[in-house]
Formats: sequence, C-alpha cells, structure tokens
Amino acid sequence: MVDPAKILSVEIYSDRIVTTLVMFSIFWAIVGMLAGVYVAAELVWPALNFDNPWISFGRLRTFHTNVVVFGFAVSALMGTAYYSVQRTCHVRLFAPNLAWFTCWAWQIAILLGGLSLLAGFNTSKEYAELEWPFDIAITIVWVCFGIVFFGTIAKRRIREIYISNWFYGALIIVIAMLHIVNNLALPVTLTKSYSLYAGAQDAIVQWWYGHNAVGFLLTGGFLGMMYYFLPKQAERPIWSYRLSIVAFWAFAYSYIWAGPHHLHFNAIPEWVQNLGVVMSLILLAPSWASMVNGIMTVSTAWEKLRTDPALKFIVLALAFYGLATFEGPMMAIKSVNVISHFTDWTIGHVHSGALGWNALITFGTFYFLVPRLVGAKLYSVRLANIHFWMALMGTILYVVAMWGAGVSQGVLWLSLDEIGELRYSFTDIMAAMNPYYLLRFVAGLIFLLGALLMGFNFSMTIIGRRTIAVRPPLVTEALA
Ligand code: HEM
Ligand code: HEM
Repeated sequence: MVDPAKILSVEIYSDRIVTTLVMFSIFWAIVGMLAGVYVAAELVWPALNFDNPWISFGRLRTFHTNVVVFGFAVSALMGTAYYSVQRTCHVRLFAPNLAWFTCWAWQIAILLGGLSLLAGFNTSKEYAELEWPFDIAITIVWVCFGIVFFGTIAKRRIREIYISNWFYGALIIVIAMLHIVNNLALPVTLTKSYSLYAGAQDAIVQWWYGHNAVGFLLTGGFLGMMYYFLPKQAERPIWSYRLSIVAFWAFAYSYIWAGPHHLHFNAIPEWVQNLGVVMSLILLAPSWASMVNGIMTVSTAWEKLRTDPALKFIVLALAFYGLATFEGPMMAIKSVNVISHFTDWTIGHVHSGALGWNALITFGTFYFLVPRLVGAKLYSVRLANIHFWMALMGTILYVVAMWGAGVSQGVLWLSLDEIGELRYSFTDIMAAMNPYYLLRFVAGLIFLLGALLMGFNFSMTIIGRRTIAVRPPLVTEALA
C-alpha cells in the first residue's frame, strides 16, 4: 500500500531542481574525467597535445580539476543539499525561483569558466584559477545558494536542525569566506588581475583557501551527504547522534588551522608549519569519528550490502574516506612530507579521496536518488553492480600506481652518491615513471567507463519511466 504522505511529498517538494542538478553533475563528471584520462594519457604519450595550446597539459589539467570539483562535486552537493534540507525541515524550498537561478547560473559559470581556462586565462592560484569576472559571478550564485538553504532552515517545521544540515551549512559559509578573501585582486583588464597579496602572505592565504576548500567542500559537504543518505539507504537511524555533533564541531575547529602543511620547508615561519602538523594530527580524530559513526550505522544491516548497489558504494566510500584521512595526517608530518611533497604520492592521496570518497559516495547517492526522482525502478541492478566493481578496481589501481610512482620519486630524488651529489637526474627518474603512468591511465579509463555505464543505466531508467507512466500501479510501486 502506498503511503499518502509520500505521494504528497512528491508534489510539495521542489524536486525538479534536484533532478536537474543531478543530471548536470553526471554530465560534468563525465566531461571532467574524460579530461582527466586525457591528461593522464599525455603524461604517457606527450605528443598527444598535438602542439595545440588548448589541449596542452597545463590548460587541460586545470580544466580537469575545475570541472570535477566545481562542476561535478558542487552540482552534486547543491542538488543533495536541496533534496535533504526539504525532507529534514518538512518544508518546501525557500524561494524556489532563486534555487532555479543558482542551478542554471552555476552551470553557465562552469561552462564559460572551463572554456576560459582552456583559452589560457588563469590567475595561477590552484583551485582559484578563474579570473575576476567569474569570481564575482560565483560569489553571487553562492550567496543565493545560502539564501535558499538557510531560508529553508528558517521556515522549518521541526525544531532540531538535523546534522547533515550543519555540514551543508558549514560548506556554504566557509566556502563563501575562503573564496572572497583568497580572490581579492586588482583587475587590470577584463581577463587579467593581480592578487592583493604577495610573497609568503600570498602563499599562506592561498593554502588556507586550498586546504579548507578540500576540508569544507570535498570533505564537509560530502559528510553532509553521508549523514543524510547513508541512514536513508540503510533504513537505520544514525548510530550516535551525539557523536555526529561532537565530530562536526571538532572537525570545523581543527580543519581551519591545518593549511600550512601544504607549505612545509617554505619561506613561512617555522611555528606556522608546526601548527599545521599538530592540527593535521588532531584532525584524524573527528574524521574517523564520522567514519565510525557511518560504519556502525550499517552494522546491523550488513545483509543489505549483498543486494543493494547504492549502499555498497556509500559504505566503500566511507572506507576510502578513512584511508585518505589517515594518510593525510601522516603526510603532514615533516619527515614524511619531505618524501611525498612534489611527488605523485600527493596525486595518489588526492584521488584516494576524490575517486574513493567523493565520486563513490556521489554515485551511491545518485543510485538512491534517481529512481525516486523520476518515479521508476532502476533499469538494471546488474549494471549498477558492474559499475561498483569497475569503480573499485579503477580507484585501487589509480592509487597503487601513484603510491609506487610517488614513493620512488621521493626516495630517488633524495638519493646522494659518496661525494654528496644527486645520484639520479630528474629526467632519468621521469623516464622510470612511464609504467606507473600507463597503469594510472588504464585505471582512469576503467573508472570513466564505469561512470558512463551509470549514465546509460539512468538514461534507460528515465526512458522506462515514460513507458510506464501510463500504468499507475508501477508508478506507485516505485514510490512505495
Ligand atoms: C585528515 C584529513 C586530511 C589531512 C590532514 C590531509 C593532509 C594533506 C597533506 C599533508 C597533503 C600534502 C600537502 C603537500 O605536500 O603539498 C594533502 C594534499 C591534498 N589533499 Fe589531503 N588530507 C586530508 C584529507 C583529504 C581528503 C578527504 C581529500 C579529498 C579529496 C583530500 C584532498 C587533498 C588534495 C586535493 C590535496 C592536493 C593539494 C595540492 O594541490 O597540492 N585530502 N593533504
Ligand atoms: C577518470 C578519473 C580521473 C583521472 C584519470 C584523473 C587524472 C588526473 C591527472 C592525470 C591529474 C594531474 C596529475 C599531475 O599533475 O601529475 C589529476 C589531478 C587532479 N585531479 Fe584527477 N582524475 C580523475 C578524477 C578526478 C576526480 C573525480 C576528482 C575530484 C572529485 C579529481 C581531482 C583532481 C585534483 C584535485 C587534482 C590536482 C591534484 C594536485 O594538484 O595535487 N580527479 N587528475
């Protein structure tokens, strides 16, 4: 029997915005990862840039990072925040038209911003490469995102603000603060500006931004996603609500100080670097608290993992989250960082987080969301399971290849002969990296093909819905 409240909820919640954002997120995932696979191929076969600056490594790499982080990840976070805030507050979105504006304006900014990077316009600040007109556009959209989100919280029908909303709220507030402060610049033309900061200050502000963008977007935002969609999919309440609150405040407090671990052995004060080490080590505790909370939530529903692809993705993502947040504090220790910094070890760490945590939890959430949003059963659970294994294989191969490459680079670069001279030249070491880079290219291709399979599965789900839309019993089945 169909629960009337569920039918009602389909009508009262602003879910078409969510559907549109989910579709855009999948689109950007595929475009961004295609660029990632192409830059990975360029590192194996450099001639693939065909001497065309638009697809040179430098431009395409920046395009890749911006499209996956701001196109794929932010669209997914915006969509899932709009979905969950309505359910946890028992109200429709505040200002739905403004929410539509945030959805479309964001996509246009990513499209034009991505093209501007390919055309060579770049501020040279990592993850903040877009020039000033885009920075202003992004600020406007982000403020509107905040108005819609906090407006919905303000008109909520229940007293408590569920934990996922704390994480999404922190994402909105902290990213606004980071983006505005780090991008303060003096424009000289429409396409060129100079940062207001210089030297060591510039570096500190940049990595305060870069690290906390990872912290509050790629980590905090996705924890918001986890705290809502994991209990939903497991059909269990969160294991310890109290632990989730403690973890939130400890996470927010310690993350903000850890940025200097990106600047070890640099021209910034020694005590600032050491503060970065200590706060990174402390950060392990709140990070693992959320992971343990998530794992314990599914601990009474393990049997579901055999049949439920969405839950499999989410639980595996938590395992990779645990791995990346253990590795990060270790890499922040100076004696480890002296080996890992400037090497592919960092790239391995990034992608154990980006693929293993961000992409997997998003895929799991989309397998939960898409059938509900379009009102039809998933076209093929079997394809979703195949996707799961491809994603797992792709992530493991990628990370292992980069660990191999990174540790070799770090150790070989530091290796000295009897008279204290470098034993290996930079080019010798780079030539030795070829097998690892080839493996990473294959890993990325497998991961990308898995994502394409998911796109196909969702397209067939939507097409299937059209044919069953005239058969009400099946539609209600899907709602139940
Ligand atoms: C406790 C949590 C974490 C800590 C303490 C941490 C620490 C670190 C350290 C020490 C580095 C290397 C800095 C360098 O040598 O330049 C790094 C790089 C990076 N980490 Fe993490 N990490 C954590 C979790 C994560 C997670 C979950 C992600 C998600 C994707 C992530 C994404 C990144 C990225 C993108 C970089 C590269 C930044 C660059 O462009 O240089 N980290 N992290
Ligand atoms: C098919 C999957 C992917 C492939 C093949 C891929 C490949 C690459 C390559 C080749 C680089 C440049 C490495 C270098 O400079 O040596 C890179 C950098 C990066 N990618 Fe990916 N990527 C993929 C997916 C993703 C996803 C889904 C995300 C984020 C959610 C992501 C985030 C990043 C970031 C942040 C960097 C910069 C790392 C740094 O500067 O330390 N990638 N990727």
